[in-house]
Amino acid sequence: MTEQDTKRTAERTVPKRYLITSALPYANGQKHIGHLAGAYIPADVYVRYLRAQKRDVVFVCGSDEHGTAIPIQAMKEGTTPQAIIDKYHVIMKENFEDLSISFDIYDRTSNPIHHETAQEFFTDLNNKGDLEIIESEQYYDEAAQTFLADRYIKGTCPNCGFNGAYGDQCEKCGTSLSPDELINPVSTLSGGAPVKKATKHWYLPLNKHEDWLRSWILGTHGHDWKANVLGQCKSWIDAGLQPRAVTRDLDWGVKVPLADAAGKVLYVWFDAPIGYVSATKQWALNEGKDWKPYWLDKETKLVHFIGKDNIVFHCIIFPLMLRLHGYIVPENVPANEFMNLEGDKMSTSRAWKLDMQDYIDDFIKKENGGPQLADCLRYYLISILPETKDSEFTWKGFQDAVNSELVSIFANFVNRTFVLMHKLTGGKVPKYHNDKAEPKDNNLIADIKTAKARIETLLEEYKFRDALFLVIDIARTGNRYMQEKEPWIKARTVDAHGAVTAEAQAEIDNCLHLCLQLCANLAVFINPFLPNTARKMCHLMKVVDKMLDWENAGSMKLLSVGYSLRAPELLFRKIDDSEVSYQVEKLKAGLEKSKMEQEKNNPQPAQQAEAPAPTSSIDTTKAIAEIQYDDFAKLDLRIGTITAAEKVEKADKLLKLSVDLGAGQRTIVSGIAQHFSAESLVGKQVIVVANLAPRKMRGIESQGMILTAEQPDGKLILVNPDSLTINGSNVR
Ligand code: 2FM
Ligand code: ZN
Repeated sequence: MTEQDTKRTAERTVPKRYLITSALPYANGQKHIGHLAGAYIPADVYVRYLRAQKRDVVFVCGSDEHGTAIPIQAMKEGTTPQAIIDKYHVIMKENFEDLSISFDIYDRTSNPIHHETAQEFFTDLNNKGDLEIIESEQYYDEAAQTFLADRYIKGTCPNCGFNGAYGDQCEKCGTSLSPDELINPVSTLSGGAPVKKATKHWYLPLNKHEDWLRSWILGTHGHDWKANVLGQCKSWIDAGLQPRAVTRDLDWGVKVPLADAAGKVLYVWFDAPIGYVSATKQWALNEGKDWKPYWLDKETKLVHFIGKDNIVFHCIIFPLMLRLHGYIVPENVPANEFMNLEGDKMSTSRAWKLDMQDYIDDFIKKENGGPQLADCLRYYLISILPETKDSEFTWKGFQDAVNSELVSIFANFVNRTFVLMHKLTGGKVPKYHNDKAEPKDNNLIADIKTAKARIETLLEEYKFRDALFLVIDIARTGNRYMQEKEPWIKARTVDAHGAVTAEAQAEIDNCLHLCLQLCANLAVFINPFLPNTARKMCHLMKVVDKMLDWENAGSMKLLSVGYSLRAPELLFRKIDDSEVSYQVEKLKAGLEKSKMEQEKNNPQPAQQAEAPAPTSSIDTTKAIAEIQYDDFAKLDLRIGTITAAEKVEKADKLLKLSVDLGAGQRTIVSGIAQHFSAESLVGKQVIVVANLAPRKMRGIESQGMILTAEQPDGKLILVNPDSLTINGSNVR
């Protein structure tokens, strides 16, 4: 241990209790391993270490079930927001369990306790005069009679010309936008052009608290917070803090608890972090404990684990809210950078990602899988955590980490020790003969003790990667020690009767005694990182999990002399080349599929909110780019019969049709109202593009398209079969 390590250990004070939070993930879809590495695995390692230290710690998380992300996903999946949160809350909760993330509670922000807590928080700030009311003009959808959140407005990106850009961001070029910047903005609710309307909102005046924020972040924590975190905070503060709206005109969320705020909810970023408080309350209720000290007592150490996209909310906005409300503020926010995948940014919209669920299905839940495969992923992710800069997950890297480090170094040491112990010391922990101790033995003992202190320092400082490297390093030291001691060679030193000499047996005993004590130490060291492995090692050593308490690390008396241990079992299996290539191919196929879907949903040039008005001039020479047969084969063309037709209110060109496709009825909104009367269409057969992605027009979901042909005078006629055909027949 260096002098510096000793100093750092001495300076550490142990807080009375810890409250550890991981960012509440949005319950709007599957979460990928980038999320896992950012906010969940590091927190879990830290918490498991604190628990092993017997500290008072509560680890909270839960689903973030508000914000526009939820109703938007509901629209995409053709269901309700409630169904979406119910579905993804369960998936995420189970995923975290399968990956051994040990929350004390995984709550949800739809919990009534959360609604009450968030409302009380708002009311308190508002009553104390800590909020300001500001009136502004916002986009409003007259047809849907609602203000439009930024995500509900689509239009053309002023930067790249993409016509499916959202009011907050263009997903094609990545530019952050405001709805005012969109060209030809359109409401995604009704398909109509939105208008501007005045509305009032409650704001948190960050600008009034700049002095405190600057001195608390850059002064008090200027040396103990991570450089990436401080950097982001500094540039925010330096750019000049502005009041932030904490309410929204939306019908999904925590209602603003004021009589004059009908139709308004708390902004999701106001309510979500309060979710940490409400989760603590729910945990306390479940456990019969008091939640208050965790948020009110200054002797609580609050640490938020998040990804870098959440820094501003956890370092500036939420701490200010906490302070104004009289709660403690975070001691640290060890945010991680991003993890890329196979050379590219992870992205849900492009399907360039590895979902937790996919890993669980392909590895943990497969034959030859199990919790050890959860530990394999944990191992690789911890070894490449983006602690100081973005990092990179590759399937080859995963295979190498498992095969060349976990299997070849860590598991190999444990396995060799157990095999030799069964062969050379009768399957029991041999005695340590002090009189035969060699410098190599003493060095190993010293290395184990040093490793303990260094791992501890690194964990206390949120340096999880380095801490894990030290654990592997001490296993490597064990392998080297055994290689140098060569007990299998000593076993060849036999007397006249063929028995191993007492001298040689003493050396064998000493080597295996120390190697076994190192195995026990390795179980304690690896426990915060790979809990399933640690438990499996306890099983092999026939010791209770209590042995994993951190106070046992560094001890050379963890296994009693004469104690018989189980037969060796492999701790991990190797990852095959075929598994790697399968995953790489799967990734590429996912990307291709999502590209095709995006092209279908956002065709260029401009997709229009309503079906385009037909042009009157026919240009048969105007060729569309040549396609291959495969492109044509992607179309699912079917015969259908129009069973009902009616005009769409306030839309001159649209007819709403019900079409019998044999297998069921489809609703199709078609821009043909100026060419056909509704009554004239009923009973007619048509050709339907049946696999066109559904699209909302004037609030009605259109589930396909009917084919028409244009006449020289610009009039449209239906394209239909020349004799009555069974509905649902394929058109080729
Ligand atoms: O970025 C996200 O996924 C947010 N749902 C994180 C919220 S963290 C906290 F505020 F709850
Ligand atoms: Zn763009």
